[in-house]
Amino acid sequence: MVPENAIHDECVDRVAALIQAASGIRLSLAKRRRLADLLAVRLPGLGRRGCVAYCDYLRNRADELDRLVAQMTTNVTCFMREEDHFECLREVVWPDLRRRAARRGYRIRAWSAGCSTGEEPYSMAMILADCLEREGGGEPWTLEVLATDLNPDVLRAAREGIFTEERVRRVPPDLLRRFFQRGTGARTGLYRVTEQLRQVVTFARLNLMADRYPAREGFDIIFCRNVAIYFGAQDRLALWKRLAACLAGGGYLFSGHTDGFMGLPWLRRLSPTVYRLADEA
Ligand SMILES: C[S@@+](CC[C@H](N)C(=O)[O-])C[C@H]1O[C@@H](n2cnc3c(N)ncnc32)[C@H](O)[C@@H]1O
Repeated sequence: MVPENAIHDECVDRVAALIQAASGIRLSLAKRRRLADLLAVRLPGLGRRGCVAYCDYLRNRADELDRLVAQMTTNVTCFMREEDHFECLREVVWPDLRRRAARRGYRIRAWSAGCSTGEEPYSMAMILADCLEREGGGEPWTLEVLATDLNPDVLRAAREGIFTEERVRRVPPDLLRRFFQRGTGARTGLYRVTEQLRQVVTFARLNLMADRYPAREGFDIIFCRNVAIYFGAQDRLALWKRLAACLAGGGYLFSGHTDGFMGLPWLRRLSPTVYRLADEA
């Protein structure tokens, strides 16, 4: 017997399609089950007509759809994830930016698109700040890291910048010492990103499915990793094109190792997951 509050597959399909249209996220089987459970709690005994009415409601109530979408995001992340990318920042990107520094006004603009709870943008900021510190104080460098996500809950946590000992395990000891404050008393076992590093990173809500991104200037570095993997092929390609359009001349685009990004004809491939736009010069 079907339980009274069971949600019809057809209803899950309809709501899943709205979620995908709004966020790009294609629901896996596990997420479809989670969605069915959520709908069963929200709308007990939803019949076919009730579902159609609820979908109409979702179309008109961005806040309700946003809440559902947020619950369908996968927020797994960690510091220095895919370590070779951070090596590349240090060994390839930084020397190149330094060479072109005078022309670029001694400014580095980086973007973590789909930043989750902040480990990725803080890792980028730490590595780049470390490169700048090693350079010495000769030139007036500025470092700006924009970090965006669709899910307001992860952004709230990211802004706080507080992580457990377990979460900072992968931060190299030297960077941990310089860029984190160790909690004491009731906060023992917690680490907070220093005020100085938090000021480098600006968090903002942005849906990467938006037609255009409000970027006034091009970015030298864009990380968009482990986000596109949840999108369908068409949305993925459109995403990469929009991101590439936000690169400054000579800018670098990093994708996740499982995102399946194969590049774009106007980007040069440096590795299977790192691409560069031609320099403007
Ligand atoms: C698996 S996490 C990846 C975090 C980080 N980039 C990394 O590689 O560790 C994916 C993040 O993408 C975000 N996301 C999913 N769809 C999005 C969209 N349409 N716009 C913006 N962010 C999105 C999710 O909220 C989630 O925080």
